[in-house]
Amino acid sequence: MHSGHGAAPEWVHAIDVTQVPPGSTIRVQVRGQSYAICNDAGRFVVVGNLCPHAQGSLGRGEVANGCVICPVHRWPWNLRTGLTDPDYPHMRLTFYRHEIREGKVYVDVSTPVAPEHLGWGEGPAASAP
Ligand code: FES
Repeated sequence: MHSGHGAAPEWVHAIDVTQVPPGSTIRVQVRGQSYAICNDAGRFVVVGNLCPHAQGSLGRGEVANGCVICPVHRWPWNLRTGLTDPDYPHMRLTFYRHEIREGKVYVDVSTPVAPEHLGWGEGPAASAP
């Protein structure tokens, strides 16, 4: 089952798509780790739940203009680059792969991925929301 490069994927059912309407985000706990699953106008993005600034819970924030807004200091985090400000490249969201199958969001919890490797699709079995 190992792919031979990097960690083998570990797909876990996290939520149903209906739990996260466009413009919202939800905090989910999977195998002891917290994730924020964001719906950016129909595009799902999965990031680590803890805000890179001061560990606010991003899954308790909201999504607007392609960013997840942290509920603590209201900084917007770009859901394509992971940055809040290009001048602060050390503060960056952690991204995870996801797939949507039959209305359910699965997250590959094996390892974070660089945002440029995500492809920004909804996964091979995506069904348009
Ligand atoms: S803790 Fe998220 S912006 Fe400060």
